[in-house]
Amino acid sequence: MIFTEEMLQSMKKVEAAREANITYEPARMTAEEKEALLAEYHPDYKDAGFATIKTGPNKGEKAPVELVEVLEGHSRVLDLCVDLNKIDYDVDVLVIGGGGAGSSAAIEAHEAGANVMIATKLRIGDANTMMAEGGIQAADKPNDSPAQHYIDVMGGGHYVNRPELVRKLVMDGPSAIKWLNELGVEFDKDENGTMITTHGGGTSRKRMHAAADYSGAEIMRTLRDEVLNRKIPVLDFTAAIELILDDEGKAAGAVLQNMETGEVLVARAKCVVLATGGAGRMHYQGFPTSNHHGATADGLVLGYRAGAKLLYQDTLQYHPTGVAFPQQIFGALVTEKVRSMGAKLVNSEGEVYVHPLETRDVNAAAVIRECSTRGKGVSTPTGGKAVWLDTPMIDMIHGKGTLEKRLPAMLRMYLKFGIDMRETPILIYPTLHYQNGGLEIGANGMTCVENLYVAGEAVGGIHGRNRLMGNSLLDIIVFGRHAGQQAGAKCKETTVGKLSLDHVTKYDNELKKANAESNVPSPKLFPDYTRKL
Ligand code: FUM
Repeated sequence: MIFTEEMLQSMKKVEAAREANITYEPARMTAEEKEALLAEYHPDYKDAGFATIKTGPNKGEKAPVELVEVLEGHSRVLDLCVDLNKIDYDVDVLVIGGGGAGSSAAIEAHEAGANVMIATKLRIGDANTMMAEGGIQAADKPNDSPAQHYIDVMGGGHYVNRPELVRKLVMDGPSAIKWLNELGVEFDKDENGTMITTHGGGTSRKRMHAAADYSGAEIMRTLRDEVLNRKIPVLDFTAAIELILDDEGKAAGAVLQNMETGEVLVARAKCVVLATGGAGRMHYQGFPTSNHHGATADGLVLGYRAGAKLLYQDTLQYHPTGVAFPQQIFGALVTEKVRSMGAKLVNSEGEVYVHPLETRDVNAAAVIRECSTRGKGVSTPTGGKAVWLDTPMIDMIHGKGTLEKRLPAMLRMYLKFGIDMRETPILIYPTLHYQNGGLEIGANGMTCVENLYVAGEAVGGIHGRNRLMGNSLLDIIVFGRHAGQQAGAKCKETTVGKLSLDHVTKYDNELKKANAESNVPSPKLFPDYTRKL
């Protein structure tokens, strides 16, 4: 038996209360209660986790300490001899990043007739998209509408989302699902062929479309096939280490580095799409993460040094239900779909302490409160605390076999460690899941740097200060496609001037003047898990 005695004792209380907890409907919190809870317990409100940016477009604003460190780090090109006259790749559209947003952008730029290339520091598909589980939102059912979706997105984001971006997200939602379906994504359907949709936290309608609990993997599989079928060139294991501008200040390509040989390569492009994804591997405030190994905020650093602005860089998403036990999968995602299907959040005493479908920021803060000041967490072997997600409720509510059918990957993941989540509850604690903020774009998907587009998790503003479940898979498709279409059109009217890296030395000089220069290699590219002696 892998559970500790303390876990087993607490589990008995959870089991004893289960029958009553299933039907118990915890009250929804008022706006004031939520704000008070967030202010006291959410990591975004912990001053010690943040530092002030000392230079660049967002000078004077706060950002996570670890992000400031790389924003003010030492550009990797400063120590290299980069010959901008030796062009290794010359394309219309350079897409940096091989996840869902980058692939969607490449497909659409290709569709527009552009000569497009993808460069990615791992392999195409090694991305947070692949790891997304629960589903993708879109208001395509008769009882729903983009307007209803819009209200939910704004509410979840604390009403500071960029309205024009939210409008695009929700209006293009139904066509995004249709596009994916026609490309071959195997969405869950009922016996009549109608797509099954469920709730997520903060949704007023059931609009979560899923492929079991591996929705992102299914979407990524399809997008990757499409990229490869179109014979779009993909440079795997090739990181972008700096953007190149031309003598008019327009984005004009990137310095790339082969991650295996170290070779430095110059890619010239008429337009650049940054689709580098998130930042979970920065482990802000020491949190574990649900993200893939390449999620190190590279795009934010490259874009910022080239002059693009950040927006809401101080807000992160801590998914309320990261794995807290067993330690081998510490921080991995337990999809919100588990709660959407009826499993409740229960503390060490067997008490339901929050509605399972409050928005993620609220639920994460409630878990942290339970484990800290309320003292109702269960101890884990890694020295932390955790609360229960009462997964056996799912089959009790929907019938035997449901959990296995709708959450097969999750069930398999736990069974590997001897835990049958149909029989026993699981221990969870928040995990760093998503960067709500990122680079600021206009309605055309472009930053304030001409011809520099951004798509996917590297964008800030779509989700305000808190994203709802399933709107990330939607945004990578909607804004990925949009960036590809825009760049595909823009490259036709663009000529590239003389290539330059002057912005990098200029930025470095500003850092020196602000006494902010450091030796930290930037962008980070990969987390450093070597044991410090
Ligand atoms: O809980 C989840 O399945 C995560 C989904 C998301 O971040 O959109």
